[in-house]
Amino acid sequence: MAARRKSAPARKGRGKAATPRPAKRPARQAVAAEPAASPLDACACVADLEIIARRKLPQGVYDYYAGGAEDEQTLDANREAFRRVFLRPRALVGVARVDTATTVLGAPVSLPVLIAPVAYQRMADPEGEVATACAAAAAGTLMIVSTIATASIEEIAGAAPGPRWFQLYMAPERALSEDLIARAEAAGYQGICLTVDTPMLGRRERDVRNRFAPTGMVLRNFEGDLARMPRTRMGSGFAVGASRLLDPSITWDSVRWMRGVTRLPIIVKGVIAAADVELALDAGVSAIVVSNHGGRQLDGCEPALAALPHVVEAAAGRVEIYVDGGVRRGSDVVKALALGARAVLIGRPVVWGLAAGGQAGVACVLEMLRSELAMAMALCGCPTIASIERELVVEPWAARATPQRA
Ligand code: FNR
Ligand code: LAC
Repeated sequence: MAARRKSAPARKGRGKAATPRPAKRPARQAVAAEPAASPLDACACVADLEIIARRKLPQGVYDYYAGGAEDEQTLDANREAFRRVFLRPRALVGVARVDTATTVLGAPVSLPVLIAPVAYQRMADPEGEVATACAAAAAGTLMIVSTIATASIEEIAGAAPGPRWFQLYMAPERALSEDLIARAEAAGYQGICLTVDTPMLGRRERDVRNRFAPTGMVLRNFEGDLARMPRTRMGSGFAVGASRLLDPSITWDSVRWMRGVTRLPIIVKGVIAAADVELALDAGVSAIVVSNHGGRQLDGCEPALAALPHVVEAAAGRVEIYVDGGVRRGSDVVKALALGARAVLIGRPVVWGLAAGGQAGVACVLEMLRSELAMAMALCGCPTIASIERELVVEPWAARATPQRA
């Protein structure tokens, strides 16, 4: 019988060998972490940046960025949809090297996470869209620049290289839209992204209560009254101002009109119904963003992730499909790609990064998502983007059982 190893004297009582207690460390020697050089250093995930942003931003600005339409049912449902999808990882695939690179409409990106068009970024940081463009270029991903930007098409293009699309709100005056498209083409943008879920602005009740109207900055793509949001005696001045830039009469013929005025690929953003895919293809669209505008338009709209598989099925590989709405984790990106998206867009995470740390904050968001994505791919047994397949996810709303891979 092996000799019993000497152990610490048994504690009184049951005679069991005592478990050696760690030496009591005088409080003063407790290891206090070095103070963070920047608040970003103490952030572990995108949600941590939102906490900083919420502290730093005026309430009305935070509410504009964070808010959704009416009861915010779809805003919440976008996140919930990701939580309801589970992953079914494969083991022992060999994931020493994980590659997150892919392409969107032929443009190489280092990860399938694109910057969604977000208005009024200078409310989050004085450098606004220019800081975002620099962070996107440095991270090797694509930025979609909003019509309602606080930096002009040309300023943003001049700030940083890198693939970029221009997001268009089709104005009632077609000449205004034609001019914006021509400027984007001349500035080297590589696509025109027409937003189709906003024939009119959704009812953002936080903005109504705050009587929200961005002041002290202008929309640099416009001149005169269109560049400024009116302050209203009641309600959202932003809603009144933005509505002047929207045309509720647009149809798929408006996409055909665009086809006639630009040689750039046309992406439509804001499709949810699979039945619209055929109409989009017929109008000459090159890609589709499955989106409900981050829950800011039709409240009660289907969550984007739930709509994605049906749109992918209808497209049958004829156009690239992206999705946005509620992406906050690298594992969300894996779920979206497994359900057929070629890439995801992120909106609010970008402004949380901007507010928390300007360009460095946006870079932090992209780096967090990149490392989370690489980790999730490795743990799923997916060393490349192409190896992320449908069998990886178990989605509760699946029309058919997800066959287990042999
Ligand atoms: C947006 N979004 C948006 N979309 C668009 O086509 N043009 C725009 O100008 C804007 N502006 C905008 C401002 C703010 C504050 C938000 C939060 C969103 C919608 C955006 O592109 C994207 O569809 C959603 O933000 C995606 O959802 P998440 O990532 O914010 O959950
Ligand atoms: C918004 C518009 C500008 O969601 O797209 O605020």
